[in-house]
Amino acid sequence: MSAPLIDPFLRAITYLRVSVTDRCDFRCVYCMSENMTFLPKKELLTLEELDRMCTTFVHMGVEKLRITGGEPLVRRDIMTFFRAMTRHLDSGALKELTLTTNGSQLERFAGDLYDAGVRRVNISLDTLDQDKFATITRWGRLAQVLRGVDAAQRAGLRVKINAVALKGVNEDELPRLTEWCADRDMDLTWIEVMPMGDIGNESRLDQYWSLKDVRARYADHYTVTDLAERTGGPARYVRLEETGQKIGFITPLSHNFCESCNRVRLTCTGELYMCLGQEDMADLRPALRNHPDTEEPLQQAIRAAIAHKPKGHDFDYSRQRPDGQMTRHMSHTGG
Ligand code: GTP
Ligand code: 5AD
Ligand code: SF4
Repeated sequence: MSAPLIDPFLRAITYLRVSVTDRCDFRCVYCMSENMTFLPKKELLTLEELDRMCTTFVHMGVEKLRITGGEPLVRRDIMTFFRAMTRHLDSGALKELTLTTNGSQLERFAGDLYDAGVRRVNISLDTLDQDKFATITRWGRLAQVLRGVDAAQRAGLRVKINAVALKGVNEDELPRLTEWCADRDMDLTWIEVMPMGDIGNESRLDQYWSLKDVRARYADHYTVTDLAERTGGPARYVRLEETGQKIGFITPLSHNFCESCNRVRLTCTGELYMCLGQEDMADLRPALRNHPDTEEPLQQAIRAAIAHKPKGHDFDYSRQRPDGQMTRHMSHTGG
């Protein structure tokens, strides 16, 4: 292995999030507009290129790979890529291979993912109400996702549910979602809506439900204990004494967790974003494509990029672009 990746603030970069496609079979109201235009497929990194990118990062000390999108499981042949990554798990260089998914394709792929070495999946599910689900995702069917959750658990995958906190939408579902997760021994994490990408006529400010309120809502229903532990991710946790369950909160807007950031993001087109909430990026494609036989130029490009990793993000509903958001979509960068 070459020298580890350390950023200017002495944070070790050991976690790579990779968006393998910007496409998705849903159109969640906080993520995309209904008539979202996707990139031409030829602009995406090929599966071989994705492999070379990830392999180079693993050689540079990345221990955790999270595959995201868009919806990663709608990319054709994506299991070939997962199976290729198994060799890094087998060698011990990679400690975890995982993915974040909307669950729609899990019924089909859960077993293959387990066979490729995946042990944990994060599934995005904001509501258990069929009508609300259809409203939020526009194109999604709840039953299909629930079958996906079942299939994942049956295959032996540990499941974490991610719910975006949406004002007036899933506020009243907090106990139901929480208890559904508790019954199935799944962790639940709430995420604040982040101002990324054009979502048409929807307004993120209207959607925004602060996780301070969510936490207060928990205190109305349960005995809540704050937990000091951090798991290397952005979430903070509490324990509900009645269910014994851990609930996570990802709060980039009301609480900044950047000081312990360990991650960078590779887009489906080969750009490396040093921070989800900053526009600064490095295009790794030239180093990848102009030097097919050696890893060194790509390693240099990665080191040069990480030397620019900012101290923290710049999310702020009051201070941004005229329409209050970053132009980049989360589905391009991978959340
Ligand atoms: P684990 O901790 O490994 O379970 O994963 P995670 O929570 O990092 O991954 P997941 O894909 O479930 O992340 C959930 C959401 O948290 C992402 O889609 C983002 O919306 C948000 N998120 C994750 N990492 C960051 C980060 O570094 N900065 C910000 N602002 N948000 C993040
Ligand atoms: N703000 C917060 N979360 C978002 N997600 C997608 N777009 C946004 C946004 N603008 C979430 C999805 C999923 C994860 C990958 O990112 O619901 O849980
Ligand atoms: Fe698809 Fe996830 Fe975006 Fe929903 S939030 S449209 S499931 S990428």
